Amino acid sequence: MRLHVVDHPLVSHKLTVLRDEQTDSPTFRRLTDELVTLLAYEATREVRVDPRDITTPVGPTTGVYLAQPRPMVVPILRAGLGMLDGMMRLLPTAEVGFLGMVRNEETLEASTYAERLPDDLSGRQCYVLDPMLATGGTLAAAINFLTSRGADDITAICLLAAPEGVANLEAGLEGLDVPVTVVTAALDEKLNDKGYIVPGLGDAGDRLYGVAH
Ligand code: URA
Repeated sequence: MRLHVVDHPLVSHKLTVLRDEQTDSPTFRRLTDELVTLLAYEATREVRVDPRDITTPVGPTTGVYLAQPRPMVVPILRAGLGMLDGMMRLLPTAEVGFLGMVRNEETLEASTYAERLPDDLSGRQCYVLDPMLATGGTLAAAINFLTSRGADDITAICLLAAPEGVANLEAGLEGLDVPVTVVTAALDEKLNDKGYIVPGLGDAGDRLYGVAH
């Protein structure tokens, strides 16, 4: 697994505003959207393209188009939905599949409660959107789910990651013969005893959409 921490002053600035507990929900949603677009630019560095002959007003040339099958973007409900528009701005022709996963706040185990994805993902590059790589359980379950359907290249985009989550994710993907990259705006200090990233930004879903429980 490859971890790419995007080191850019605009990313750091937007992340700092997101972290601030004074930032309200509308601002949090807008900044998440902007931040994801910046992360998506890095995350799509290896997106597959095919050569394409075209003619400009001045003459013929060969460029590239996104390859078929089209990339699949997979937000993890609920909080991953807040990242979808920012991603699709950069990859408007991608397809979108949904995975609903919830973590049991006592055991911290992830389980799937909803799924809307093609049965066959053979040859598909998948971009998983999950704001917080905390324990790593949700992301490991999502990636194993996608590869079990044939996805052959996975990039996860996370606003933040915890070192424990990165290590657990690596362990959870052991033996998987599919390249996995995690792109994040920062690798934080640790997890607290409730499984929250420290210093983090709190509950991403609640900050995007309000308290759900
Ligand atoms: N999920 C969140 O929303 N925030 C955390 O810090 C950890 C998991």
